[in-house]
Amino acid sequence: MVRLETPFAAIARPGRRIGHAVELHKTIGSTSDRARELLAVPGGAGTAVVAELQTDGRGRRGRTWTSPAGRNLMVSVAVRPALTASDAWRLGLAVALAARDACRTVAPIDLKWPNDLIADDGRKVGGLLVETLIDGERVDAAIIGIGINVNWAAAEMPAEIAGSATSLAELAGARTDRGALLAELLDRLDAEIAAIEAGGSPLDRYRAACRTLGSEVTVEVGTRTIQGVAAALDEAGALVIETASGRETVTSGEVVRVRPVVPA
Ligand code: BTN
Repeated sequence: MVRLETPFAAIARPGRRIGHAVELHKTIGSTSDRARELLAVPGGAGTAVVAELQTDGRGRRGRTWTSPAGRNLMVSVAVRPALTASDAWRLGLAVALAARDACRTVAPIDLKWPNDLIADDGRKVGGLLVETLIDGERVDAAIIGIGINVNWAAAEMPAEIAGSATSLAELAGARTDRGALLAELLDRLDAEIAAIEAGGSPLDRYRAACRTLGSEVTVEVGTRTIQGVAAALDEAGALVIETASGRETVTSGEVVRVRPVVPA
């Protein structure tokens, strides 16, 4: 029996702040660019922009986000969160938890600091790109972009990522309904963003979901490489690394290697 996917357009929930409308593109440059444009359109904030194919998909740190047509979930939403600039860090953690919990309806997914969705063995299943626009003391807007490998077969993945990436379908052993996953994601984003606006902190739940903590890590920060043990996340979500020469606190960067601490 062929199981049909829930159509993306059926996921829209009028009245809901995140995902009151769903805009589906067969092909687009980047869903995040389109979501940003929608900020200038009355009622455009909160629209979920979904694409079957991106020709200019962007990842963190200037990388390209690659995904074949019609297999995976690529979605962006622009929001105007009621957050001060000093609380902007909460948004990235809240979005990561929403995405992780939506994926966990299908397979056991956790987080690699700061914004990767990973399988138990560390392979990447997805990533988040949260672009924040600050106006003085407050967050004016944020463009949340989420890419999740859903029905991408390992055999179809390009050689350069085949060893380090996987998909929900590979982990679950079955095709996943991308529409149902999008519905889970939008509901969770809505709830997580409302919670941080109400003053809640996602920090403890993020710490519990973050597989980076307690491991030996190699972190690239700009042109620097830091090696040590990922000891903690501080009160602003920054990664604290115990290195041979002392503690380093990293607010943004890329964990390029994670391995368990070997007892002395
Ligand atoms: C990363 O892991 O580097 C973040 C990847 C984010 C990719 C998503 S796909 C939907 C949205 N549109 C983009 O151009 N990028 C994000």
